[in-house]
Amino acid sequence: MDHFLYRDGQLYAEDVPVAEIAAKVGTPVYIYSTATLTRHFRLFDEALDGMPHVVCYAMKAASNQAILKTLAQLGAGMDVVSGGEYARAKAAGVPGDRIVFSGVGKTREEMRAALEGGIRQFNVESEPEMQALSEVASEMGVIAPIAVRVNPDVDAKTHAKIATGKSENKFGVPISRASEVYATAAALPGLEVVGIDVHIGSQLTDLEPYRLAFTKVGELVDRLRADGHDIRRLDLGGGLGIPYTRGNEAPPLPVEYGNLIKEVLGDKGCEIEIEPGRLVAGNAGILVSEVIYLKQGEGRDFLILDAAMNDLIRPAMYEAHHDIVPVVEPEAGAEQAAYDVVGPVCESGDTFAKQRSLTTLAAGDLVAFRSAGAYGAVMASEYNTRPLVPEVLVKDDHFAVIRERPSFEEIINRDTLPEWL
Ligand code: LLP
Repeated sequence: MDHFLYRDGQLYAEDVPVAEIAAKVGTPVYIYSTATLTRHFRLFDEALDGMPHVVCYAMKAASNQAILKTLAQLGAGMDVVSGGEYARAKAAGVPGDRIVFSGVGKTREEMRAALEGGIRQFNVESEPEMQALSEVASEMGVIAPIAVRVNPDVDAKTHAKIATGKSENKFGVPISRASEVYATAAALPGLEVVGIDVHIGSQLTDLEPYRLAFTKVGELVDRLRADGHDIRRLDLGGGLGIPYTRGNEAPPLPVEYGNLIKEVLGDKGCEIEIEPGRLVAGNAGILVSEVIYLKQGEGRDFLILDAAMNDLIRPAMYEAHHDIVPVVEPEAGAEQAAYDVVGPVCESGDTFAKQRSLTTLAAGDLVAFRSAGAYGAVMASEYNTRPLVPEVLVKDDHFAVIRERPSFEEIINRDTLPEWL
């Protein structure tokens, strides 16, 4: 459920007409709903009711400071994967002991910054990383809390580019080698083993891969405890999928996911950490764009928008589907046409949808890409020197620009010329 609904023939973001935001801020523009963000975060929090837990929002999905602060005020922890994300979490007021640091390639500098600013745990993904963290913590005279990310070799049944739990993926250490790796960790100075971490992929629409992975983690808890390790936290990653097609998809609900965690791991006496990103932010955001031209091609019509692949890369990168809806609600029975929906960027990959059936549209009409809140703005670039899309946050009947569209001058002035030019 989200808060982008038609009312009186107009698409609204909560209580604000989307067209009003487009008129004030221009297009393309990302618009987020506070109520949807809040609702989705709470669904996870409530799903783990009765178990000690922390919901660490995976900010890679959408990391605008206003979004982070909205979630931090609800008590969210954060999952970060870079020094920049760590700095964002701190700037949003998230206490260090609610921040987990994931990622296969943490640098020593990033480790140092997190140890200085406070960290709940590092999710360590390899022995060389463990060695580096041990050295950094020892130099600083502090202890780094760690969980080892294990790779359970489970097929998450999702798009290959976002599956992470198979042995061929770069993530984690093979679960078969976990005992050995934990023994190494326990022997290294400056580290304290606090738990186990697992994350098998993103946009999972079936709970079975989770069941398989969590069952393996549960067995590992017993083995590691028998080896003398104090396993008290389980970080189960993120990945729960969202419906991208209205009405046609019903991925598992957070409550079902929570029940599975309770069923499989509830008797371990561990504190549970989860790292949802997409489900918190995905349907809390839309990308609004204007039709520039309707171009008649040979045998197909192209709807050319002012948004492009640099603004929302998911269709080009993962063949992802995003529902596209007109901002003015079509009349019942309105005429439909099939369009190739494209942007202005100079490559054919700049295609949002092929032969998409939409009500007939014309230049000047506004459309909204639904489910664009996660991995939308954060993956945008300035390819073709197209300014990064501004972001707007709506709360009830008011809205605020939470990131301005940069001017051409600002973009150009970010470059510096060498002395010989
Ligand atoms: N934790 C870890 C360690 C992760 O690598 C990820 C996502 C998450 C949590 C959050 O997963 P979520 O709940 O959002 O599925 N750009 C791609 C998605 C990449 C996901 C990367 N890791 C897309 O647009 O589909």
